[in-house]
Amino acid sequence: MTGIEDLRVDGERLWSRIVALGEIGAIDGPNGEHGNARLALTDADREGRDLVVGWMHDLGLDVGIDAIGNVIATRPGTDPNAAPVMTGSHIDTVATGGRFDGNLGVLAGLEVIETLEQHGVATTHPITVAFFTDEEGARFAPDMLGSLVYVGGLALEDALDITAVDDGALLGDELLRIGYAGPLPCPAASAPAAYVELHIEQGPILEDEGITIGVVEGVQGISWTEVTITGRSAHAGTTPMRLRRDPAYVAASIITYVRELTRTYGGAQVATVGRIAVHPNLVNVVPATATIAVDLRNTDDDVLVRAERDLAAEIARLQTAEEVTITTRSLARFEPVEFDPATVALVERTAQRLGHSTRRMPSGAGHDAQMLARVCPTAMIFTPSVAGLSHNIAEYTEPADVTAGANVLLQTLLSLAGMPLAGLASTGAPHDAIGGSEGERLAE
Ligand code: GLV
Ligand code: MN
Ligand code: MN
Repeated sequence: MTGIEDLRVDGERLWSRIVALGEIGAIDGPNGEHGNARLALTDADREGRDLVVGWMHDLGLDVGIDAIGNVIATRPGTDPNAAPVMTGSHIDTVATGGRFDGNLGVLAGLEVIETLEQHGVATTHPITVAFFTDEEGARFAPDMLGSLVYVGGLALEDALDITAVDDGALLGDELLRIGYAGPLPCPAASAPAAYVELHIEQGPILEDEGITIGVVEGVQGISWTEVTITGRSAHAGTTPMRLRRDPAYVAASIITYVRELTRTYGGAQVATVGRIAVHPNLVNVVPATATIAVDLRNTDDDVLVRAERDLAAEIARLQTAEEVTITTRSLARFEPVEFDPATVALVERTAQRLGHSTRRMPSGAGHDAQMLARVCPTAMIFTPSVAGLSHNIAEYTEPADVTAGANVLLQTLLSLAGMPLAGLASTGAPHDAIGGSEGERLAE
């Protein structure tokens, strides 16, 4: 008899789902890159959602949609009173994203379910696979919006009222338009028993060190600020430099300032200005306004607070010195999160038992797991990103690493969900069809 600890996912089946989902909103690059553009609540997002929901139905899951559009699909357990063990991630992408960010966690969750079905493995706790709305925050800030609403960190009405950065559309309208404003309540009526998310690292550390599995101990703090600078539109040729009130120059000064700030602070401080808009954006016109979004992150919240204060002081200085008006708006502010030590240790033990090299690490990117950590024991599993690239159409993770990560997820979920029965009656061929006969079910 083969033990439950020998159960493994079908890596090819998982890979083929990653490829199929990646066909929706595909953007192919000139060097063979296969990227994705599925910004939250766009038509492409709807198409991706429909595909994944179809797979959830095919697997016989009980599929629920909540009022912020999170999709929560559950395979029942044997104990009717046990809370589900949840896994998942997101399937929205940035506008120039890859096929793995978020998608891996959701599709690996489905692969875990399909593996359990195929081998007739029952678990004590139900297992739930979720994908959360607008994790990226690229269209509607903040990031991790759906999971934040799910755990009660943002009121549903406030979330529905958020406008899109690109076209000013209302989140609530877009949710209705794509047909994903569901009936389940937000915040969720009850918390999962635990949450474990598989995700690509999105950075270079695992690849640099030749390590297969990152054991994620927490997520760094995130601070997003939108800065709007209003100056005076004027003629580029005739306006003497001393008379200019130039918002583009001020925006550039802020961009340079935050880069310098990371040099002064050193350590874990990172700073990015990834969104810039000037109006009217013409070659021979001193702009009237400039809007930028500043992203500051640090694993140490005290240092992050200091960086925010320094930025605010520099903005005040520039406002006076350059005779412009500057307003700021917080788009996202999340403190660093530490995951549950016991669940983190379980991920580490499981990966090592499966023969993988491991390394403990913080996450540089934001994740739905950091929201779930507010309501239940939570951990994450990282797999390597080739060249450390993510939020880039060249984002890639080797198939062997995808499979390794999914197997760590499978075995971790099995430990958390508990098995009423001890082993597999039939090892089965790994490619058996779903829903085998009773004879393939577990022996007692
Ligand atoms: C979201 O994924 C972020 O890290 O910005
Ligand atoms: Mn992600
Ligand atoms: Mn992302």
